Amino acid sequence: MMANLMLLVALAAPSLAAIVSRQSSTVTVDLSKTYQTMDGFGTSETFQRANQMRALSPELQRYSLDLLFNRTSGAGFTILRNGIGSSPDSSSDHMVSIQPKNPGGPNAPPKYVWDGNDNSQVWLSTEAAKTYGVKTFYANAWSAPGYMKTNGNDANGGSLCGVTGATCSSGDWKQAYANYLVQYVTYYKEAGVDITHLGFLNEPDLATSYASMRADGRQAADFIKVLRPTLDKANYTQVKITCCDAGGWSQQAGMLGQLSSVNNQLGQITAHSYMSQPTSPLNTKLPVWQTEYADLQGPWTEAWYSNNGAGEGLRWANTIYDAIVRANVTGYLYWIGVQGGPTNSKMIRISDDKKSVIPSKRLWAMANWSRFVRPGAVRVGTSGGPSGAKVSAFRNVGGTVSVQVIQGGASGGAVNVKVGNGFSAKGVKAWITDNTRDVAELASTLGSDGTASANVPGRSMVTFVLEPAA
Ligand SMILES: *[C@@H]1O[C@H](CO)[C@@H](O)[C@H](O)[C@H]1NC(C)=O
Ligand SMILES: *[C@@H]1O[C@H](CO)[C@@H](O)[C@H](O)[C@H]1NC(C)=O
Ligand SMILES: *[C@@H]1O[C@H](CO)[C@@H](O)[C@H](O)[C@H]1NC(C)=O
Ligand SMILES: *[C@@H]1O[C@H](CO)[C@@H](O)[C@H](O)[C@H]1NC(C)=O
Repeated sequence: MMANLMLLVALAAPSLAAIVSRQSSTVTVDLSKTYQTMDGFGTSETFQRANQMRALSPELQRYSLDLLFNRTSGAGFTILRNGIGSSPDSSSDHMVSIQPKNPGGPNAPPKYVWDGNDNSQVWLSTEAAKTYGVKTFYANAWSAPGYMKTNGNDANGGSLCGVTGATCSSGDWKQAYANYLVQYVTYYKEAGVDITHLGFLNEPDLATSYASMRADGRQAADFIKVLRPTLDKANYTQVKITCCDAGGWSQQAGMLGQLSSVNNQLGQITAHSYMSQPTSPLNTKLPVWQTEYADLQGPWTEAWYSNNGAGEGLRWANTIYDAIVRANVTGYLYWIGVQGGPTNSKMIRISDDKKSVIPSKRLWAMANWSRFVRPGAVRVGTSGGPSGAKVSAFRNVGGTVSVQVIQGGASGGAVNVKVGNGFSAKGVKAWITDNTRDVAELASTLGSDGTASANVPGRSMVTFVLEPAA
């Protein structure tokens, strides 16, 4: 009898286990295990892309703004990255400088020119701040104006005159460039927009045919030593200096050693993902943002999942997960929000006839993070979950706990979510994004023991939002 029962259990066990694992799994959230505090998610409309938005009909303009910043009908982005111009003109997609002409040397009185528009970035920033409550504005220069550089051109690389190894017959332009950046912050302040983060480099590891300026960590540190006191003197003590928007995660990692002497003057480390992806933390105590990435050349796709192509939504959901959970970022920015043209370089496409504005599932992948992981949210520990899925959890300001389950595989099943540490839920909602749904509400239940449950299908991203009882 005993032997028979043992045999029965032994025979039954594997198939039972298989059924159970296919049918249900449990995510346990540990609120006592805390990681980074989030600043949010965002994008940019630099290089005159904001002009494209502003040229739309009033209805499409509002629709595009809602898609970017509205928390109920769009992505609810909380960070906008603006471009500080360095070009002498506005031809092509150039960002014109606020001092297009050399005022006559680094010590000459500056000759700033401000059109109050800044390629519609003032309009966009004002809308973001006033209509949608965006508070984080990252102003980022791709280069100093050409006359401040070793190559006399704002494009094609070159270095800022006066940093280590960059001497120019015109003199040392470090202070003049710092003054110039501070003036840009002041123009925005006068327009009613507070710049919170200021960057002076973009992909300094590359020389490109558009605005670009080279720097290694030491040269960046040389300038930060001038920029910080210049900001402070103008009372912009709260403006954080960022560095360095390198082209890839390992390129940025390579600059950190030489930046260590200015860690106390820096506020934010920033890096892009083109040349290498964020899959492990950068070696710094400063908060880190991923500030630029996109599938630049791939043909426009709106798909959530078809073959895991570079522009697909589910792939983006996973990419963002890796940056947050594996690489410890506190902010994630897509390259461009809204623009025309046939590639995936943006999340939202303006049709060729400019009569429609089309969101891709990349936008909704961002939205599924951005709407539920709000500024100030603290990432917390999780264990368990469906096999093959990526799971993360955050406690938002106000106590709401949001749990993301990204099921990249084809099979799904019931997922239970238990929050420990005495958390008591009074309600749960679940939201799903997959091939056919866009952050649609998904049936969920809250058991008497506080366990939330929902059925998570394959190739989907589901977010559970648990409201605290008190
Ligand atoms: C956001 O979208 C909702 C739903 O369409 C709308 O009611 C609300 O007015 C929008 N919010 C803002 C700030 O425009
Ligand atoms: C900075 O603030 C101090 C104290 O409020 C004030 O005296 C000073 O004039 C301000 N400086 C600038 C440049 O605004
Ligand atoms: C993660 O980033 C935070 C700052 O946002 C930092 O304090 C912490 O040390 C980082 N953790 C790791 C493992 O790098
Ligand atoms: C999640 O993504 C889907 C589209 O794939 C979108 O429809 C939905 O609105 C997003 N949910 C949220 C909360 O942004």
